[in-house]
Amino acid sequence: MIWFLGDTHGSLGHVVQQVLLAQKNGAAPDAVVFLGDLDCAQPLHLELAEIVGVTDIYWVFGNHDSDDSRSLNNLFSSDLAGKNLHGKVERIGGFRIAGLGGVFRSKVWAPPNAPSFPSYQAWRKDLMRKRPPKGWGIYEAGEERKHTTTIFPDVVSRLARQRADILVCHEAPECRSDGRGWQAVGDLARKMGVRWLFHGHHHDSPDYSEHFVEMGFKTYGVGYRGITSLLTDGKIEVIRPGDYDAARDFDWEVPNE
Ligand SMILES: [Fe+2]
Ligand SMILES: [Fe+2]
Repeated sequence: MIWFLGDTHGSLGHVVQQVLLAQKNGAAPDAVVFLGDLDCAQPLHLELAEIVGVTDIYWVFGNHDSDDSRSLNNLFSSDLAGKNLHGKVERIGGFRIAGLGGVFRSKVWAPPNAPSFPSYQAWRKDLMRKRPPKGWGIYEAGEERKHTTTIFPDVVSRLARQRADILVCHEAPECRSDGRGWQAVGDLARKMGVRWLFHGHHHDSPDYSEHFVEMGFKTYGVGYRGITSLLTDGKIEVIRPGDYDAARDFDWEVPNE
């Protein structure tokens, strides 16, 4: 059993509480996977100290995890830094789980348009060519941090050559009725042959079931601080609804720039 965790935005207490409750009932998940925008106030292993060792902990990042150095370091420099699934496929709880963190940003790549840069390294090289690091100001350093949570084509291509059962993303695939899903995310899921896709970012949990056949996989949005479980037999169970799942027009995650 794997739990998928919607955007926590700085408040992870419900995750600790629910995992400990499940453990008490003899049903702790094999692993939990954060879907981005954790926005941790302290290093992730400290946020989750009570459940480290109770369940395996994985994550992908969201756009807000690079808003400031604190959020970024609390993930990338935590003891759980190695549990970042972005651009990887890992075998977890009997499933092969692939991760694609971050968001598309138009200055880099807004598919189906051609990308401006193939990789983070190429983007950074271009930045250094325009202005070397010793001349950097707050703007350049901020851009460098921001694009650590941008989706670059090389990561998507690398994943597309692999197979997985599950794709976890911050961005959504194309089945959203608000037009804010991405065909490129759905295409990646189909290339990898996944059966399930779980995403965060939109702070809602729409019913996508009418699109499952045309999509070729089942997809679920996990709402704000929501928890959705995938059981070993493939059943889906909502452990904790997102805080705003009932308010269907709730939408304050700003569009990507
Ligand atoms: Fe978010
Ligand atoms: Fe987000």
